[in-house]
Amino acid sequence: MSETVTLNNGLTMPLVGLGCWKISPDICAEQVYEAIKLGYRLFDGACDYGNEKQVGDGIRRAIDEGIVKREDLFVVSKLWNTYHDPKHVKLALQRTLDDMKLEYLDLYYIHFPLAFKFVPFEERYPPGFYTGAEDAKKGILTEEKVALIDTYRAMEELVDEGLTKSIGISNYAGALVQDTLRGCRIKPVCLQIEHHPYLTQEKLVEYCKLNGIQVVAYSSFGPQSFVDIDQKLAKHTPPLFDHPVIKKIAQEHKVTTSQVILRWATQRGIAVIPKSAHKGRLLGNLQIDQAVTLTPKDLEEISSLNKNLRFNDTWDWTISKFPSFH
Ligand SMILES: NC(=O)c1ccc[n+]([C@@H]2O[C@H](COP(=O)([O-])OP(=O)(O)OC[C@H]3O[C@@H](n4cnc5c(N)ncnc54)[C@H](OP(=O)(O)O)[C@@H]3O)[C@@H](O)[C@H]2O)c1
Repeated sequence: MSETVTLNNGLTMPLVGLGCWKISPDICAEQVYEAIKLGYRLFDGACDYGNEKQVGDGIRRAIDEGIVKREDLFVVSKLWNTYHDPKHVKLALQRTLDDMKLEYLDLYYIHFPLAFKFVPFEERYPPGFYTGAEDAKKGILTEEKVALIDTYRAMEELVDEGLTKSIGISNYAGALVQDTLRGCRIKPVCLQIEHHPYLTQEKLVEYCKLNGIQVVAYSSFGPQSFVDIDQKLAKHTPPLFDHPVIKKIAQEHKVTTSQVILRWATQRGIAVIPKSAHKGRLLGNLQIDQAVTLTPKDLEEISSLNKNLRFNDTWDWTISKFPSFH
């Protein structure tokens, strides 16, 4: 099991969880089940990942076999961009809960601060990026005119109804986090952002810390996850696993470069959710606090690798793909 943090609503959350993006549905239930057996308690999923049924199956099997109880787990999902209209928010969460065969989530995020035109479940689920085949062919995204605070207020109602214990925001920049805090009734417990040694986002992290919002890092291994999807920038960026500074620190502490990268985040109070489809990697990713304690100099050296390199940049979608921007 991993270290834990106490969130601003009193809930306890593990500092290390399993990211579920791109875990293929055919191995996902088994991977989640194996992860629970190894000690994982946090599962970071989303409607958009297309494997929520399988994440739920893995969880159910572990519960049925008495390995864990539901309350031992911290189950996370995310509201997809297509469901931002307040009248669709509860429907979206209910669909996630039905797919996972769960009564409640521990945390439900707004996945991106972007609203896409609604696509009914019967038409396509998960709906992905495009409204229909024609838009997909042209590469056009269609906006829904919904303000984020309206979506957020519908998320707050989900907490009132006990469908999720907490709510969070993801891919928000500083001003949006500030605006959420100004307008919210229930504080977001977490901000999930792209965060790795090439993108340290220090001011945003500091602001969240000051305001009691837990930062959760995604894509902790930087370009690695985006090489998998053939992204140009990622393919031309030197892998963090091979970076001389990370390699030197790993050798000094006799651990893997992946453990150094993850521990650099958790030692600075940032939660991580590394994804692996390989059973053999799960334990090493989970047990970082037992494997290594980095020195303040190590932490500083790794932070100094920052290049403000963002692999998951929503501007790439909005500028080129929303016709309303032209
Ligand atoms: N909120 C958002 O918008 C957002 C965006 C992206 C991701 N996320 C969440 O964050 C999670 C993690 O991010 P991510 O999946 O983008 O990337 P990641 O965890 O940084 O990297 C995953 C990649 O690293 C490899 N890997 C994992 N452990 C390794 C190890 N010990 N040694 C070497 N390679 C290793 C994986 O390969 P194998 O699978 O082959 O092991 C995979 O190629 C996601 O799964 C998702 O839950 C959220």
